Amino acid sequence: MTRDPGRLELSPEEMRALGYHAVDRLVEHWSAMTGTPAAVDADLATLRGALREPLPEDAGDWREALAFADRHVFGAMGRIAHPRFLAFVPGPSNYVAAVADALASGYNAAASMWRETPGPVECELTTLEWVKELAGLEGHADGVFTSGGSVANMIGLAVARDHKLGDDMTGAVAYCADQTHSCVARALRILGFRANQLRTVATGDDYRIDLDRLRAAVGRDREAGLRPFCIVANAGTTNTGAVDDLHGIADLADEFGLWVHIDGAYGAAAALVEDGRALLAGMERGDSVVIDPHKWLFQPYEAGICFVREPGLLNHAFAASPEYLQDVAEGDGEVNFSERGLQLSRGLRAFKLWLSLKVFGAAAFRRAVRRGIATAERAAAMMRASGRFEIVTEPTLAVVTFRLLRDGLDEAETSGLQRGIVAALLDDGFAFVTSTELKGRTCLRFCTINPRIGDDDLAGTIERIVRFGDAARVRE
Ligand SMILES: Cc1ncc(COP(=O)(O)O)c(C=O)c1O
Repeated sequence: MTRDPGRLELSPEEMRALGYHAVDRLVEHWSAMTGTPAAVDADLATLRGALREPLPEDAGDWREALAFADRHVFGAMGRIAHPRFLAFVPGPSNYVAAVADALASGYNAAASMWRETPGPVECELTTLEWVKELAGLEGHADGVFTSGGSVANMIGLAVARDHKLGDDMTGAVAYCADQTHSCVARALRILGFRANQLRTVATGDDYRIDLDRLRAAVGRDREAGLRPFCIVANAGTTNTGAVDDLHGIADLADEFGLWVHIDGAYGAAAALVEDGRALLAGMERGDSVVIDPHKWLFQPYEAGICFVREPGLLNHAFAASPEYLQDVAEGDGEVNFSERGLQLSRGLRAFKLWLSLKVFGAAAFRRAVRRGIATAERAAAMMRASGRFEIVTEPTLAVVTFRLLRDGLDEAETSGLQRGIVAALLDDGFAFVTSTELKGRTCLRFCTINPRIGDDDLAGTIERIVRFGDAARVRE
């Protein structure tokens, strides 16, 4: 068949060859991952020099283009699904889900309006039900897939604003902890709240919000004639994995008629296992709850979810029915996800999670979550055994924070040492580890939610931390 570039088509043979090539590359990538570096040390000028090519006006060879991408795009990135990517909140992902995403994209499946694409919409609805069951959120009525946690948090807060404040945001106040993810303050800012309409409440030594201070802040604002409307609670902070006292917060909210929004972007998945569910007690009382499948439910980017407990509130906040969509308006029992969030055109994000649950089963997901929790505990035990580390916060929801100690260093030097170790680790590439600040002290941090982390990965990383730390110059 002759190729007609104006139709943006390939012949069936070319389509197959391209697809098989892509699958072969992916299988190689997944099978060989442990033996490759987790971090990459790219040089900006070189990389940009390679990628800033002129717009390709004429047709090119896909083999050459993919070989180029393997080198300069996919070869120049930290591998977030790598077992030694222990930084931030990793995205362990899984191959089945990656193929599912390719299929969803290949079919250009949308999950927007029921009448247009009923199968994908029902697939998203079923997957939302499954996630509710996995996380113990069966009491939540509605949900929507989003690009990730930042947007899911924004959606929950938009519903809180709509339900509690209507059109009048005057004097409204929201509350969160000093450990709350930065996307919450940003979401409130974008939703039109001024900086002084968010109170950041201090956490205690356990990095959980101090309930007495929270109560006092709400009381003060009420006395001042302001309108407290929402508490943002943490179900697993990014820094330390801390879970706020969710029942305590929900009781306080009930007393004052406030909305409870729970950010469980990474931590809510711990509810898949018994210990995690105990730690997350009260999560089911959140008026809105965020959980990100692209974190601890092992999905490739992008997938977040916001659940809302009371039926209809999501739609109330986001409904829009222009005349050009009149033929696909929601019928009885139908769901139009286009009226549950910001996106009209939206891809079928649920399919990857649907397929991975069908292929691996929920029991495998539970084992994988349990493994992540146990891995952080093993890492802490190894560090203790070495006698070289201070464990700053005990392993919680697969996060452990720690510092390498060296004799004779003061506080500032010890903090500097941790940052120096991160720089040396990133240069080395074996593992991707980053630092954070806890009560003014720089600490290292592992987030071990990847179920494929082995003891060799931990031992090799800890050995390098000690070696690079001992070799680092902390005084000029
Ligand atoms: C607790 C928490 N909330 C929100 C987010 C933001 O999620 P996303 O990166 O998917 O936008 C993160 C990201 O790590 C997180 O850990």
